[in-house]
Amino acid sequence: MPIDAAENAWILEMKSAAYALAVDPAGVLAHRYWGPRLPYREDYPPASSPHSWASFDMASNLTREEYPCYAGTRYVEPCLKVTFCDGVRDVVPRFTHAELDGDNATLRLHLRDAYYPFEITLHYRAHVAYDLLERWATLTNQGDAPVVLERAWSAQWHLPPGEHYRLTHLAGRWSDEMHLQRDQLTSGVVRLESRRLATGHQHANWFAIDRGTASENAGEVWFGALAWSGNFAMAAESTAFTSTRVSIGLNDWDFAWQLQPGESFSTPSSIGGFSAQGFTGASQQLHDYIRDHVLPHGAAVHKVLYNSWEATGFQVSEQSQRTLAKRAAAIGVELFILDDGWFHGRDDDAAALGDWWPDERKFPNGLAPLIASVNELGMDFGLWIEPEMVNARSELYRAHPDWVIHFPTRARSEARQQMILNLARADVQEYLIAQLDALLTQNNIAFVKWDMNRNVSEPGWPDAPGDQREIWVRYVQGLYHVWATLRERHPGVIWQTCAGGGGRVDLGILRLADQAWTSDNTDGVARLGIQEGYSYAYPACTMEAWATDASPAYVPLSFRFHSSMCGVLGVGGDLLRWSDEMCAEAAALIEQYKQVRHIVHQGDQFRLGSPQSEACTGVLYLTKDRTEGVLFAFRTFVPFPAQMPPLFPRGLLPTILYEFEGIPGQKSGLAWEQAGIALGLGNFESTMRLVRAVEL
Ligand code: DGJ
Repeated sequence: MPIDAAENAWILEMKSAAYALAVDPAGVLAHRYWGPRLPYREDYPPASSPHSWASFDMASNLTREEYPCYAGTRYVEPCLKVTFCDGVRDVVPRFTHAELDGDNATLRLHLRDAYYPFEITLHYRAHVAYDLLERWATLTNQGDAPVVLERAWSAQWHLPPGEHYRLTHLAGRWSDEMHLQRDQLTSGVVRLESRRLATGHQHANWFAIDRGTASENAGEVWFGALAWSGNFAMAAESTAFTSTRVSIGLNDWDFAWQLQPGESFSTPSSIGGFSAQGFTGASQQLHDYIRDHVLPHGAAVHKVLYNSWEATGFQVSEQSQRTLAKRAAAIGVELFILDDGWFHGRDDDAAALGDWWPDERKFPNGLAPLIASVNELGMDFGLWIEPEMVNARSELYRAHPDWVIHFPTRARSEARQQMILNLARADVQEYLIAQLDALLTQNNIAFVKWDMNRNVSEPGWPDAPGDQREIWVRYVQGLYHVWATLRERHPGVIWQTCAGGGGRVDLGILRLADQAWTSDNTDGVARLGIQEGYSYAYPACTMEAWATDASPAYVPLSFRFHSSMCGVLGVGGDLLRWSDEMCAEAAALIEQYKQVRHIVHQGDQFRLGSPQSEACTGVLYLTKDRTEGVLFAFRTFVPFPAQMPPLFPRGLLPTILYEFEGIPGQKSGLAWEQAGIALGLGNFESTMRLVRAVEL
């Protein structure tokens, strides 16, 4: 029974974690506890009303509220800020009642403003098996005049009282995204956000907090994420009163939402979790939840793909793709992707986006003949699209210049010579659904790579039915609608989210996309750090990674493959320039990968060292039952010819005997974890080793 409810106090118990809240003596919905599950109900602290510190910090500013609203003498980050029709700009919520869903895993708390007919419903859903809690809020205007929402965040997550918390987050830029960063939280607010219309390369909407002492293997970690693919904000705040909290939700920057009489607005979900097993535990909880509950096809084992982008660029033709497809099939590729350059008038990045039918010069008989030959070679066929974009030089733009996001009195800034269609508009959504549905209906397309290659500018929507600033949310809702409709009509298709690499990866898009294009940086060495960061939040079965020609020549082909084999393996090099020896080596590596990919995609992942700070690192994947595993180990550059230090595996069953491929002897899991694995790699060498339980 996950939810215990008594006297306006609730305890949500999960497998090993718990969360408690209550209406405090002052009538405020206050946070009580988030951490390991405690033995007795009485162990959970009560919600006590704090005393005022001074006229400058009254009790209301010191209460750890579950969903603070901007009102009264509160100066901490609020979750909600509104303006009522008479100009009053604060909300005074009073708890009215609670409801439990039939499964006893979802709690709904209803609050109502003390004066205005305005209701806040806070939703708490316990994902018991994963020690995760899902939270979101619904705001309802029950009055007869509009209310303007100016901030509507999803949740505020409170850490236990204390100091010296450390924030772990993922930051970067195009071609260099998802780098792990750790910052000590001192008094004040650290705000991470996107103002770019998409999640962005700059910050993932994921965080982890610990007391500065948690490691990969051990220690308490609190973490969270937002299921949203547009502008978001995350504020990690430490007060002078030993209170640390992280608030997360839709970015309130340039945000406004008119809530008309009778209307409701629901925020995206935020997921929060607690792990007592360090950062590995935190990642594994999220990975399991994403695989079991978020991804449309669950923990599917993905095919090895070939993508022709880095080989042929925009210069695609039926013949060039056929030739590449033959080479790809010969090395064991299972899915052939035709990237950019295939559609009407597309010869470079200056034209054609928006005109989603095959280029008559390059594909005189449409895509069908190429698809047929790809299928004859035993491979599925996949296609690249960038539906949200349009070039000025396109039939679509000439017909509908008003469909792009713009301010009428300003020049329309172009980036990569393209503009963004306003997916908040129903007519744009309908156009895209019709075009893409036709493409998928007329052709045997098994995979779609959905790209997005620029961020927003001049975010105007001149003929918006309401406040133009609703575009930030309505655009993402429109995107979800188009994508979900296409998924529904073509349920067998596998979708990849791409935004110039990892510019739109989050728990929102992963409800629609089966996998993500991790980064445009395809160098196997640089990818180690990017993939490390990615793995903190997202599972390997979503991490598409290609082996290409982008690495310097001193990085062997096997290293490039091993680096990519840590996720969903793809090949992106120019196969026509690969020698027979290279092709034979690639074929052998692909075959090896096929033997272990179920472990990578469906097992548990353990990071052995950090490629950002160490030259010798590994990634170990073990099946859930711990009977088999696979270790990928890498050595980048160590200036002096020093010996590689051993890698210490983790996650093995302590008393079971294991063998590591290529290493003499059998040892118990505990013994291997203590002794480590000595691999003796040289600079820019890598290896893949099978792990096998000798007996169970
Ligand atoms: C950006 C993507 O990340 C690349 O893989 C490729 O698809 C190009 N766009 C094509 O324009």
